[in-house]
Amino acid sequence: MSTILVTGGAGFIGSNWVRLRRETHPDDRILNVDLLTYAGNLENLEGIDEGPGYRFLRIDVADRQALEEAVDEPVDAVVHFAAESHVDRSIEDASAFLRTNVIGTQTLLDFARARGVRRMVQVSTDEVYGSLGDEGKFTEMTSLAPNSPYSASKAAADMLVRAAHETHGMDVVITRCSNNYGPYQFPEKLIPLMISNALEGRALPVYGDGLNVRDWIWVEDHCRGIDLALDKGRAGEVYNFGGDAERTNLDVVRGILALLGKPDSLIEFVEDRKGHDRRYAIDFSKAARELGFAPTVSFEGGLERCVQWYRDHDSWWRRIKSGEYMNWYETMYGDRGDA
Ligand code: NAD
Ligand code: DAU
Repeated sequence: MSTILVTGGAGFIGSNWVRLRRETHPDDRILNVDLLTYAGNLENLEGIDEGPGYRFLRIDVADRQALEEAVDEPVDAVVHFAAESHVDRSIEDASAFLRTNVIGTQTLLDFARARGVRRMVQVSTDEVYGSLGDEGKFTEMTSLAPNSPYSASKAAADMLVRAAHETHGMDVVITRCSNNYGPYQFPEKLIPLMISNALEGRALPVYGDGLNVRDWIWVEDHCRGIDLALDKGRAGEVYNFGGDAERTNLDVVRGILALLGKPDSLIEFVEDRKGHDRRYAIDFSKAARELGFAPTVSFEGGLERCVQWYRDHDSWWRRIKSGEYMNWYETMYGDRGDA
């Protein structure tokens, strides 16, 4: 049995990972450390009960004292998801991004070293590599060139993780994944925002010309990759994960509208995101070779499942959209997106 401290396990990817890990490794004990910011939601963990295999701790990862006091048992591994994750919010105000993503990561590294944790996985992003032109893909050798405060804070965190390996000999693995989609994604991100807006009969705000490209991966495929990195990755290495599914934003949005039987006229082109990265595409051949990683869900199949999930979990996203989040929405989109 291993005790794994996961951070950010009440968020989108973290909660999917907790659910998957409990299925695949029922003997593990999971300590879920999450501050429950606007993006954290215990409803994402419905059906996962406190007990010998699972414990939830509401803690800020940047608060070392709180971590020391609350975690009163040996920890074998740390899987670090907790972050401020939304690019648009980082453009408005980067302060929480620096505290959680940078200071929080160093705090966790210090905690893990002091406790003799065997391995820490840093869940990072392809956005640290910056933006691609029409050709090529990001490899683990691509130089870091982050363009948003969010991606700069994640790149800083990755460098601190690397430094912990080089300086202190810590066993760390960094994973860098492309855009995830699937159940429990906060409806500020492209796919759940567009599905829920379409279901509400609102306009679908597409930035710029809508031709920016993202490489989409079904969230469980990413979670499987993280498990492989945790269990089989080489210490000090970086592994890219992707879905082999490059799509323009316009293709994604039109696909959603078609699945919902809604008209393309709901699309509204709005002002572009500042510093908007044009294209992401991931070369995950290293993870395929060394870890046996392969995405299993096609984008078309995944999008259909995803649309169905948001249809079936209407009350989950409607509750979020009726709360504090709507203040942000008004600030972000003004009276646009209100067809
Ligand atoms: P999310 O915003 O849905 O969830 C983040 C979680 O972290 C929330 O539960 C939140 O409460 C928690 N959190 C935030 N600040 C905290 C703090 N100071 N202390 C403790 N908990 C805190 O994010 P996500 O989309 O699930 O992303 C998870 C991780 O994966 C992030 O590190 C992100 O950079 C990375 N990532 C995301 C994607 C993607 O497409 N969403 C792709 C690649 C990598
Ligand atoms: O690539 C991995 C990254 O993917 C993660 O590190 C981030 O945490 C995650 O949020 C995501 O970042 P993006 O900026 O790519 O995701 P987002 O869903 O915000 O936007 C996807 C694309 O859709 C992007 O080109 C911007 C565009 N977009 C987004 C929103 C919210 C729109 O056109 N309209 C919108 O309203």
